[in-house]
Amino acid sequence: MNREDFPMLKNNIIYFDNGATTFKPQSVIDKTVSYYSSYSSNAHRGDYDISLIVDKEYEGVREKVRRFINADSTSEIVFTKGTTESLNMIVFGFMKYNLQKGDEVLLSKSEHASNILPWLELESEIGIVIKYIPLNEKLELTFDNLKSAVSKKTKVISLAHITNTIGDVRPVVEIGKFCKENNIYFVLDGAQSVPHLKTDVKELNCDFLAFSAHKMLGPTGIGVLYGRYELLDKLKPLVLGGGMNSSFTDNSYELKTLPTRLEAGTQNIAGVVGLGEAISYLEKIGMDKIHNHEVDLKKYLTEKLSNISNVKVYNKNTISGTVLFNLDNVFAQDTAIYLNKHNICVRAGNHCAKILKDELGIKNTCRISLYFYNTKEEIDELVKVLENSYNIFKEVI
Ligand code: ALA
Repeated sequence: MNREDFPMLKNNIIYFDNGATTFKPQSVIDKTVSYYSSYSSNAHRGDYDISLIVDKEYEGVREKVRRFINADSTSEIVFTKGTTESLNMIVFGFMKYNLQKGDEVLLSKSEHASNILPWLELESEIGIVIKYIPLNEKLELTFDNLKSAVSKKTKVISLAHITNTIGDVRPVVEIGKFCKENNIYFVLDGAQSVPHLKTDVKELNCDFLAFSAHKMLGPTGIGVLYGRYELLDKLKPLVLGGGMNSSFTDNSYELKTLPTRLEAGTQNIAGVVGLGEAISYLEKIGMDKIHNHEVDLKKYLTEKLSNISNVKVYNKNTISGTVLFNLDNVFAQDTAIYLNKHNICVRAGNHCAKILKDELGIKNTCRISLYFYNTKEEIDELVKVLENSYNIFKEVI
């Protein structure tokens, strides 16, 4: 779908590492460059034409993001460096001041490092207690398992909507409703879901949502923190400086209102305008169409892989575009190097979700993560190369 729009797809490679980052369409590249070539100036600071264009573009993207995730107000949309920074802001700017020793935070063992490490640090700083929701035999998170892990002390549930490993789509609507009814903060890591699924923060009842532009056709180094206004308004800025204060004296300062209060210093303006263009591009195709295409491709891929005797797939049934696999008796990294020799890009390793190896019982896997511009022909090529993998050690060494 839409392959002609992506310059990177003209480079004779098959790119199956979209969970790590996606390619950018020409329109996003052009929009980003146009900031530098046509109206390069700072935001919220100048009284001249090109700076006013920046303000209009920058705040226009905030409105676009608001609409894209169906937030109530642009005050709830903060631009950050990406999912990792957004999650750190939630943990150290909000949770640190609103949780107490002994409060329980529920995570799962298949979360990305960005949704575990900040909590581990907070555990050592203020004594919260981290508990891991047990996964089922397919390593998926079920609503029943989640409920069984909840106690009177549970104050936060923080989960990926879709994991970057198994790729299971969590029952987030049920979880959000449950959290709301039980006064539990619901933090959603949308890094692997917002690029692939329609996201509606009201339907999800999430208190916070974090996602990155570069996994949804946008530039690197830019992302979003969404927070419900009443909560976001209590989030303390982790970075202080210019642009976010309304006044300061020798010994005190006043901060601006949301969202500017949380955007200290000169922001990644080119990134923001690129993100805006990426959203327009995704909306033009339609998120439902994107999701359906990926699910269709995954089904096609896993059926083909099941016919290759030395391929083991770990997550055949998850409803997303991620496939984890290994070749029998071959280290995942060797498989990735072999595929690279055939111009096929996959990710090998633990995928920043190290804890999963405890559950899966293996240290490393190869991951194929699909996007809407991938095709069945590319999958056929991958399958052909894997079928010939008896040559693997000759080629890799
Ligand atoms: N978090 C990204 C991935 O899963 C980098 O590959």
